[in-house]
Amino acid sequence: MRTIKYLFQKGNSIASVPDELYGSFVEHLGRAVYSGIYEPGHPKADKNGFREDVASMIKELGISTVRYPGGNFVSGYNWRDGIGPKAERPVRLDYAWLSKETNQFGNDEFYTWCQKYDLSPMVAVNLGTGTPQDAGYFIEYCNFPGGTTLSDLRKSHGRAEPYNFKLWCLGNEMDGPWQTCHLEAQEYVRKAHETAKIMRWVDPDIKLVGCGSATTLLPTYPEWDRIVLEGLYDDIDFLSCHHYFENSTGKTEDFLGSYVLMENFIHTIESTADFVKAKLRSKKDMMISFDEWNIWSIEGEPWMNYFADPSHRFTEKPPLLEQSYTLLDALVFGGLMCTLINHCDRVRMASLAQLVNVIAPIFTKEGGPAIAQTIFYPFKMVSEYGRGEALRFFADVPCIETVHGQTRTLHSSAVYNEERGEIAFFVLNLGKESARIELKTEGFGDKEELVSHTILSGPDLLVRNTFETPNAVMSRDSALTEAEVKCLVTDVPALSFNRYVVKVN
Ligand code: AHR
Repeated sequence: MRTIKYLFQKGNSIASVPDELYGSFVEHLGRAVYSGIYEPGHPKADKNGFREDVASMIKELGISTVRYPGGNFVSGYNWRDGIGPKAERPVRLDYAWLSKETNQFGNDEFYTWCQKYDLSPMVAVNLGTGTPQDAGYFIEYCNFPGGTTLSDLRKSHGRAEPYNFKLWCLGNEMDGPWQTCHLEAQEYVRKAHETAKIMRWVDPDIKLVGCGSATTLLPTYPEWDRIVLEGLYDDIDFLSCHHYFENSTGKTEDFLGSYVLMENFIHTIESTADFVKAKLRSKKDMMISFDEWNIWSIEGEPWMNYFADPSHRFTEKPPLLEQSYTLLDALVFGGLMCTLINHCDRVRMASLAQLVNVIAPIFTKEGGPAIAQTIFYPFKMVSEYGRGEALRFFADVPCIETVHGQTRTLHSSAVYNEERGEIAFFVLNLGKESARIELKTEGFGDKEELVSHTILSGPDLLVRNTFETPNAVMSRDSALTEAEVKCLVTDVPALSFNRYVVKVN
């Protein structure tokens, strides 16, 4: 068997991996909020109604930022509905998900939840039905110290100190025809520009994310991105990328090669941003917020037909987008995480969409337990050790032909953590054979030992975690032989996602 050699050299790095790469997303959608993160009366809920069992799983994942309150939901949402005394809050129709919104959880609760669990808020303003003035009022309520009607209103709700939300999205997927009050690119530019002006007048320290294309499938992609970048280059700090992946051909190797689609997408957006930078004679590099990504089998999921039954329309916390993930999904997911790390010089934030119940790593039963879906494990494997410098390396990896063209059978990323003196190497083997690899290091120190191997794999790629079998799929530590420890040569099993840790000093 041929040995594939990887050489990691100190200083040969892509960029530092930002904590914000390990962000997620909670939308008012289905059971993400109600009976997801928030369920008053649940045996594991705290006095605020926050589910502690869910919170401890979020901690285990190492989640950094949480995007809120949408998603499509935000484009019809009035932020005033979710503040102040709960008994006075209105019950509304949510147009995005044809649901009934009770507003018992809103901006005030989101802030408390983030504070309690040490999560960084990333808040979206409504640029669908909302106006630039509404966005200005919203940030005044949240971030202005006091002495105005809205900042004093926050104080009257028991919040003397401002929330100081620093990350803001200028709307959501405004290019999508499905969006409430969808906009053409130039219309979005005009509205987002005026909104950004007002928001920065109220708080000059914020970071703003402009809407990039909602999907590569829209005919406006990537022209939308060019127009938005040209119009908003000086207004925004990040352009958003959204991309979901599914097994569209039904072939395992095509699906496992989804990382190629993500790479291509990032390349296109980076190139478009760099074209605009040159055209505008700007000195600034536009960063990317990949703030919606995941596996989402949009076709064939039961939620598509959910509203065919008229009695399901406008009900509370409907069971929408409750995808049950397979081991295969989790392997694909691991490959996508490698791609995010390999592009972290430009992708400076990412949000796994979503966090609980809705296309999510955590799944709950109302009044019952919370379980880890299969995709929980690759996220945890990477987020635990993927902090430090992302390393650049070359390896001569064999390819197979997939729907994406020539596709590397090993897809990997590496992160050096100086404090721990460790290099974590993450690798997806999408081939049907195991692959022999050798990990070589240069310039890190005298020591060089392979100290651990964590693997996600199994005989049945279609197995899922359920309430009956919650641990059917889990990552596990695999023993290393003395020769593997010393020589750093090992075999990566077929169809597996792996984390190897090399001690270097
Ligand atoms: O994450 C689910 C939905 O997908 C979001 O609401 C929307 O932004 C995207 O289309």
